[in-house]
Amino acid sequence: MTRKWWQDAVIYQVYLRSFNDSNNDGIGDLQGVIEKLPYIKSLGANTVWISPHYDSPMDDNGYDVRDFFKVSEDYGDLDDFKALLDSAHDQGIKIIIDLVLNHTSDEHPWFEAAKDPAHPKHEKYHDYYIWQPPKDMTDGVQTLPTNWRSWFGGPVWEYNALTHSYYLHIFSKKMPDLNWRNKNMIQDMMAMIQWWIDLGVDGFRVDASNHLEKNWDFPDAYPGYEHFSSLPKHHDYLKLLGEQLFFPNNLMTIGESGGASPKEALQYAGFDSKEFNMLIQFGHCWADIDDANHITPGKWAKGTINVPHIKQSLAHWINVFEDKGQNTLYWHNHDHPRVVSHYGSDTFKTHEISAKMLAYSLYLLPGTPIIYQGEEIGMTNVDYQQLNDFRDVEVYTEYANFIQLGATHEVAMQALRDRARDNARSPMQWDNTLHGGFSEYTPWMATNQNKDFINVRQQENDKNSILNTYRNLIALRKSEDLAFAKTQFYDLDHAQSFHYQSKGKYHTYVVISNFSDQTMVLNDLKITDDYTLYLSNTRAQERNVFKPYEARIYRKKH
Ligand code: BGC
Repeated sequence: MTRKWWQDAVIYQVYLRSFNDSNNDGIGDLQGVIEKLPYIKSLGANTVWISPHYDSPMDDNGYDVRDFFKVSEDYGDLDDFKALLDSAHDQGIKIIIDLVLNHTSDEHPWFEAAKDPAHPKHEKYHDYYIWQPPKDMTDGVQTLPTNWRSWFGGPVWEYNALTHSYYLHIFSKKMPDLNWRNKNMIQDMMAMIQWWIDLGVDGFRVDASNHLEKNWDFPDAYPGYEHFSSLPKHHDYLKLLGEQLFFPNNLMTIGESGGASPKEALQYAGFDSKEFNMLIQFGHCWADIDDANHITPGKWAKGTINVPHIKQSLAHWINVFEDKGQNTLYWHNHDHPRVVSHYGSDTFKTHEISAKMLAYSLYLLPGTPIIYQGEEIGMTNVDYQQLNDFRDVEVYTEYANFIQLGATHEVAMQALRDRARDNARSPMQWDNTLHGGFSEYTPWMATNQNKDFINVRQQENDKNSILNTYRNLIALRKSEDLAFAKTQFYDLDHAQSFHYQSKGKYHTYVVISNFSDQTMVLNDLKITDDYTLYLSNTRAQERNVFKPYEARIYRKKH
């Protein structure tokens, strides 16, 4: 099979609001991205995925789209977007945008018409969304159509007095779900997608792509995710978009679908698939959930890191896609805590070494890397003390939920500091000036104060920094063609070691990491005498003893 351009791409994910503020209003913007394209290029990345840039009331930072054809005034205007495309293309960088298909903002004109019977276009647009009458009326009290739970906490239903009915929202109540059974809505969406393709975008990351179909029988079930996730019919919608829009235009398309089975993953993104060309699933992203915690439950319940689970998940997906599709590699995105705080250590003593260990552990594996902004300098979770320091809509619904379940304020705050999505959304730390070089004006969310010693400028000048480690690893990926490496994992059940072999174009590499904060003794290193040490994140080494987070890469010619 001839290789496609997206197979050996290196993607850098930009969370627009927090990346770089060019006009000093405290909010990142498109011109800010243009300013930093040379930096992105210096990392070795050649594709940028930007979070939603559309006009939006920003209930969910742009995933609530008010106008798909307009750029948010926070970020600039259409000319700025075109300038970004031109500038990126001039520098050999592709731009992929976030495509939000599952819902719109409740301020989108479609919804404005849908919710109001007196609106002249009500008839056409009402059915663009999903409406249900109250289930029954008990003692004069209406009950919700189902007891399903929204991803952000609380019910998925919001009452609309004008129609005496409820609309479905699987995310926030300002994000009503679209009805993909409505053919006119699909036509409108396709015209919108075509419009961005004509403008010159190189691809899409397709948001919440496995939620497009719902179970229209609306049975009760709590939390009920199976009734609005991965239902068979959503593939029909994606296939339609793939066949008519994505594939004929040679675009990079990445679907977001948590919990896909191997069979389904290949249906989405196998080489023969007509839906996407790559997939984001989250198998390795929450390997430390304490199921016994019922006070801050689910992803909020921080437990012990299950290292075998992380390795097994990565190995599983490499195996699923081997020769059948293109794997993706990422530690996290804007919906997760910072990986160095989550799976490494953010204490002064072990921060740098653990960030490098995480990089070695992932980036010699096959697939297309997606590096999330700030990961390359080891940005950490936020240190917010007050609830109102947080910005994410999810934080507020979940905080209320924790308190209701019996959490104290401090327990709830700790769960937020450990797990909230805002951890990954604090402003990019470019230097150690007042707002970390992100802006000269107070940022929309506070800069992490460790910008004084974790920032790009300081790491630029240190050849052994985390930043330069990322650069070296990406360069190595390219020179050795590691996107297509054949890999073998060892010690998959070992609770500390992260140990694998990857065959590059010229060398065979063996990575051995101590994925823990305890010393690790590993007697069975999978290296022979002809291997030499290529890279390590510590100086002194004893062959079989690995200090906390110590990691080494050995190699031999073949
Ligand atoms: C995005 C989230 C967003 C949600 C709703 C997710 O997949 O990554 O940031 O809140 O979809 O659009």
